[in-house]
Amino acid sequence: MTTVNELDKKRMLMKRDVDELIARHKSNVASMWRATYHIQPVTGLMNDPNGFTFCNHKWHLFYQWFPFGPVHGLKHWYHVTSEDLVHWKNRGVALLPSEKYENSGCYSGSAISEGDTIYLAYTGNYRDENRVRKPHQLLATLENDVHYTKALRPLITPNEDYTEHQRDPKIVRIDDTYYIFLGAQNKDNKGVILVYSSDSILTDWQFLGELKVKGYEDGFGFMVECPDVEKIGLHDVLIFSPQGIPADKDDYNNKYNSVYLIGDLDLKTLTFTPEGPMQELDHGFDFYAPQCASQSVYDDCAIMSAWFGVPDYTYPPTDQEGWSGMQTFPRELSIRKGKLYQKPARDFESLKKEELFVARNGEIISDQLHGHMPHAAIMHVDNPDEESLNLNLFSRNYVISGGFAIQYDKYKKQLRIDRSNLTNQLNTEYGTVRQLKIDSGLKSLDILVDHSTVEIFVNDGEYVLSSRVFPTDDEHMIRMGGKNLNLMIWQTEPSVDDEAIIFAENQ
Ligand code: FRU
Repeated sequence: MTTVNELDKKRMLMKRDVDELIARHKSNVASMWRATYHIQPVTGLMNDPNGFTFCNHKWHLFYQWFPFGPVHGLKHWYHVTSEDLVHWKNRGVALLPSEKYENSGCYSGSAISEGDTIYLAYTGNYRDENRVRKPHQLLATLENDVHYTKALRPLITPNEDYTEHQRDPKIVRIDDTYYIFLGAQNKDNKGVILVYSSDSILTDWQFLGELKVKGYEDGFGFMVECPDVEKIGLHDVLIFSPQGIPADKDDYNNKYNSVYLIGDLDLKTLTFTPEGPMQELDHGFDFYAPQCASQSVYDDCAIMSAWFGVPDYTYPPTDQEGWSGMQTFPRELSIRKGKLYQKPARDFESLKKEELFVARNGEIISDQLHGHMPHAAIMHVDNPDEESLNLNLFSRNYVISGGFAIQYDKYKKQLRIDRSNLTNQLNTEYGTVRQLKIDSGLKSLDILVDHSTVEIFVNDGEYVLSSRVFPTDDEHMIRMGGKNLNLMIWQTEPSVDDEAIIFAENQ
């Protein structure tokens, strides 16, 4: 395990560190678990997506970044851009925790863009001389893709009526008024969302109050992280990462989970009225802190990225190599029948290259795999008769139910994923199986595999299950079973540049 000592955890990136990071990057790139079409940390650890927006004809995504190892050390922001949400380029560090209010990190936040300028609202994780945490909400701008400037004054100072846990501002503009939704903990240790507003981005932010979510007057767990509010079609959607929601049968089995509520947001009364129950956003093992992009490219859907990981989890296989974390593949969110549907961003079709395997009605039409599991692939399963099925990805020779098992039981209408048979076990105290009842029956699966990730989109996005896997060299087989299935497997094209860009040219 690469260890990072306490002093190094507080290290801020300097120009003189570039050679060290280039060397770290070089060894990361040699990893068999490095992705080819997912955003991954240039070095060190990545967690939440931040500042996701569309500006100057490009998508801009930032991520929480600790450059010097696979630990949650002093957080920076790193910048990546894309023209299509599929092909991404590394652009260099965006925010360095160099100012007073950032002395314990530039924590998560969001963005809006106006003209050529991106406004980044984020949390300055500030600790005073007695190490007491006093979070300030800060602002930085990125102009013309090149110039970063930090605002001199915090937008929002600590709110004395809440505990030290106040962070992850989501900034939005609604009818010429700016709003910030802020994750917080009240003094009864309950998770809440605070709302602030202003007529100008830079100044005069006023505290409006707590967002009242009807039916949830007691708050959510002990803390709400990364709140997000999106208009999708005629509905408002509240997305957030509550901490401390107890496991409930098949739901909320990860240490921390992310959820959504569909409903109506009334900013005059600061009330969100849900139209249905709170639902988990993702039913896999590794998903947290989703954020939607501020954008007007698509009016039929929201665009979301998320951390392909969970706080307090460890990922020993890549931790040992000195890096950790990934982003999930960007998703399009829409609403159907009271549910949030999540599909891979539409240009993901362009990733599909050569057809490696085709079966129709259960009969093999073409097969270049001969039982071998491709490390990066997209799979599509049609299950017209809603039959039971079994897929074992990354299984070992002769091990019948090995690998990462995906099973559907048509009698129970239950989809089950099981990673207990893989050599590399992860965070097993939170279980090795996830399951899900699919009332409408299993009609289709789209499965995105990228070396150490498996994302399963069920029934065109009705449910998603995202999981990390770290197959070893001898876990290289695939087994497929099911009646009357149509199954296609494509090789994928690498689309995320894995370049050692530490500082942008002008920085
Ligand atoms: C969520 C989170 C945020 C915080 C950031 C720090 O994963 O804990 O609440 O801003 O990560 O990296």
